[in-house]
Amino acid sequence: MRKFCCSMIRIMSSSQPIGIFDSGVGGLSVLRAMRQLMPGENVVFFGDQRHVPYGPRPLEQVRTFSEGITRFLLDEGSKLIVLACNTASAAALGHLRQTFPNVKFVGMEPAVKPAAETTHTGVVGVLATPATFQGALYASVVERFTTGVQILQNTCPGLVQQIEKGDLEGTETRRILESALHPMLEKNIDTVVLACTHFPFVIPLIRRICGDSVRVIDPAPAVARQAQRLIEAQGQVNNGDRGRVRFYTSGDEAAVESLLLNLLGEAGRVEPLKWVGEERLVRR
Ligand code: DGL
Repeated sequence: MRKFCCSMIRIMSSSQPIGIFDSGVGGLSVLRAMRQLMPGENVVFFGDQRHVPYGPRPLEQVRTFSEGITRFLLDEGSKLIVLACNTASAAALGHLRQTFPNVKFVGMEPAVKPAAETTHTGVVGVLATPATFQGALYASVVERFTTGVQILQNTCPGLVQQIEKGDLEGTETRRILESALHPMLEKNIDTVVLACTHFPFVIPLIRRICGDSVRVIDPAPAVARQAQRLIEAQGQVNNGDRGRVRFYTSGDEAAVESLLLNLLGEAGRVEPLKWVGEERLVRR
């Protein structure tokens, strides 16, 4: 029955929100880019702090979470769903497009193509979660776009958790990044691709470790432009002054609230949701 409802034709209006989700605060790096580009759009943002980090989890489990979150965001009236999470995109983007054929989705694709096109040294570093590296999406972009380029990978264990705590500069955060980046710098990388949406928040630290000659690619602005193109193509641009953002978490709402100003640049109230099993989100 539920499947039937979601595949029915949905009548849309431009004031309906864009639904955005991530395992946690990483999605705010994408939301930040979207707010700059499309300030009039209303947004429903969900961070799955109950289950963060997604990166070490099996892809099937992340797919189940992503479907439950999508159902919640559609129930909230979302006109477009943005998977502001490389791991969820790797695990679930294809599945969600099949399950909800009338819904438009935007996902994250590791930006190895622009990196491979512009590298001078021919060596590119990619930082992502284990699940993203395991997914077919990553294998496919590497195979299609990186001929003749050496790709070095690192999963930065513990970095997502540091960023969830709001620790963007501390000793442990620096240690994790140095142990990922120093071996890459020794092999002469000139580009670092951030293939996890949490990582743009540590770009200042990455720059201090790598120096100015290394280019850091944050895909958030390109993803925001893709979302804008889809909304324009659907004739659903909301031209208000400042759209409203409703924030939800499955974790500690006060903890998330305390990070918003620093990470997103705007404050807000965060409302709690609760998982029923691994498949359904309800209000607490
Ligand atoms: N921000 C996410 C990503 O882009 C997930 C990080 C995690 O939960 O492990 O992959």
